[in-house]
Amino acid sequence: FNKLDRDRTLPEKKTKEIESYVGFANLPNQVYRKAVKKGFDFTLMVVGESGLGKSTLINSMFLADIYSADYPGPSQRIKKTVQVETSRTLLKENGVNLTLTIVDTPGFGDAVDNSNCWQPITDYIESRYEEYLNEESRVNRKSQTVDTRVHCCLYFIAPSGHGLKPLDVEFMQRLHDKVNIIPVIAKADTMTPEECSHFKKQILNEVAQHQIKIYDFPDEVLPPTAVGAAGAGSGAGAVDRKLRDRIPMAVVGSNTIVEVDGKKLRGRKYPWGVAEVENLEHCDFIALRNMLICTHLQDLKDVTDSVHYENYRCRKLAGLGHDSKQTRASNKNPLAQMEEEKREHDIKMKKMETEMEQVFEMKVKEKKQKLKDSEADLQRRHEQMKKSLELQIKELEEKRKALEAEKTAWEQTNGITIEELRRRSLERETV
Ligand code: GTP
Repeated sequence: FNKLDRDRTLPEKKTKEIESYVGFANLPNQVYRKAVKKGFDFTLMVVGESGLGKSTLINSMFLADIYSADYPGPSQRIKKTVQVETSRTLLKENGVNLTLTIVDTPGFGDAVDNSNCWQPITDYIESRYEEYLNEESRVNRKSQTVDTRVHCCLYFIAPSGHGLKPLDVEFMQRLHDKVNIIPVIAKADTMTPEECSHFKKQILNEVAQHQIKIYDFPDEVLPPTAVGAAGAGSGAGAVDRKLRDRIPMAVVGSNTIVEVDGKKLRGRKYPWGVAEVENLEHCDFIALRNMLICTHLQDLKDVTDSVHYENYRCRKLAGLGHDSKQTRASNKNPLAQMEEEKREHDIKMKKMETEMEQVFEMKVKEKKQKLKDSEADLQRRHEQMKKSLELQIKELEEKRKALEAEKTAWEQTNGITIEELRRRSLERETV
């Protein structure tokens, strides 16, 4: 009775509009409440050469010091090979919790020879998929698998005005089927609007020419707040399309507040004016933030799950994964895998049992030794006490003998015994 048979037996679906209120119109609210209670998580990776303003942009984007005390700043970082660093922050907005994981990749593109500098990044992304796959295929799964997969990669392009560098092309080609790549033009305030728009066209041409698949923001209807924030009134869909036209977004980041006409804004102050971060006429920061967080965050997660993770899973199951040992493990049929996990579990339990027995024996041994030690100590103290008492008895005996001799000598000298003397003095007292 497989799915096809079942579908064949299902009666034809009829549509019926219900006149009075039954209650299932409330279903979205149930989902909403559950989702809010559970909270959301999102993993954002930032890649780009040092000093392109990655940390400044992330801090500006989430209006928080995501990169805080432990971030040494661009110049203080020790330049080595490419590393992958993660930081997790819990953000709260109107009762909604978002656990944001930022994956930073210091050292990317900073060396003279940058060949293979994308490798640690690919390895990181794939290892997160592998973790997820292993977690999912366990017999005893957690009620909710923790999702540490990278949902989005912001790739920072230097504002050179000369199109993409070979490293940019290589990186995006290597990772476009593993993660959602959103290219952004860094430090857009260093270009005039004409230069910026020309640069954008150049980048899009090169992306198409090299068949790079960057994340394609699907047409979404913006929620009313996002429409307001985008500053247009011509309908949500239109605003969405307008924001999409700005791809690749050219951004400006700033962690300082400046005052313009009495208004306090995030921006960069120059002798000739202020580049406002949250002004769509100055840069695409707001467009990027709205599309990334407000409207497409869930889609980025969905695409990660249904496209990139699925690609990885297929590659693994087809035996094309990197690690042949892991591939063999995930290629097993579920029953064999269950058997293996059971065997592993039994071995683990046996090992634990033996370890516990060993610990118990060790403890008993220790206790016995302790008892023996304290018994010997007591015995020693008893012996000591006995010896000192015997010594005291001997001394007292000698003293008694000396006193006895003294008494006899006195009685002989005085011609009267002590007893006789005592008796006479008693008689005198009675008289
Ligand atoms: P690493 O941590 O070394 O990878 O650097 P980073 O990419 O995180 O750069 P960071 O945010 O530390 O910024 C480097 C410098 O660029 C700082 O002095 C920032 O103030 C400045 N900066 C950041 N964003 C912008 C921008 O949009 N425009 C301009 N002109 N400068 C910026």
